[in-house]
Amino acid sequence: MRRPSAAIGALRRAIGRCAGVPGSALRAGLSLVEDLRCRPAEPADLEFLATMLGEAAVWRPDKPTPTGEEALADPHLATYLAGWPRPGDHGLVADHDGPVGAAWYRTYTEADHAYGFVSAEIPEVAIAVVASRRGEGIGRRLLVGLIEDSIAQGHPALSLSVNDENPARLLYESVGFVTVERRETASTMVRHATSARRRG
Ligand SMILES: CC(C)(COP(=O)(O)OP(=O)(O)OC[C@H]1O[C@@H](n2cnc3c(N)ncnc32)[C@H](O)[C@@H]1OP(=O)(O)O)[C@@H](O)C(=O)NCCC(=O)NCCS
Repeated sequence: MRRPSAAIGALRRAIGRCAGVPGSALRAGLSLVEDLRCRPAEPADLEFLATMLGEAAVWRPDKPTPTGEEALADPHLATYLAGWPRPGDHGLVADHDGPVGAAWYRTYTEADHAYGFVSAEIPEVAIAVVASRRGEGIGRRLLVGLIEDSIAQGHPALSLSVNDENPARLLYESVGFVTVERRETASTMVRHATSARRRG
């Protein structure tokens, strides 16, 4: 198995770093949003993360999105953020004159988990970008940054759940997530720390 540092190096060379360090943010697959900053999510970001959770839960543009408050009041959704930050939680917030997107992961147990659970060792990702800022490369930068951080923290893989019609699936596949389980209308995807990125 490749050492984590080697895997991070390979991923960085392939798809660049979220923080937008000059010279790295324009690597293949990443567009540069001028002055975009990705920073670690703090306890005070809970409200924004909850808003992003609502966006991720109802991703179809033609359907009303739950507010952050509504998302946290829904026990199925609240699982993704209850008690934030719990030990092992990690997230990134993309800032561009205020928060414009967030991605985070959390580990779960067999007894208490979210939709994309695979094992207690593999954290599950949630991600969303504010509707008016989608399609600018922000989501990709958040996800790449989160993958890098997960490797640096020694996690063997990341998982997530995605509706089969959600175009976010293309983003996930392009950074190395593969489907490991299909349910009625959604799939569980996993990206191993040693996975190669796939593009196009
Ligand atoms: C999914 C999401 C986080 C992606 O963030 P983003 O900033 O819009 O994505 P990017 O601009 O970085 O694009 C990355 C890739 O996403 C894919 N993609 C995402 N949404 C897409 C859409 N509506 N149509 C086509 N492709 C889309 C494309 O493959 C794109 O790759 P490309 O740049 O090579 O075309 C964002 O669209 C979002 O918040 N969606 C609603 C919430 C959601 O669905 N969350 C995930 C739940 S599983």
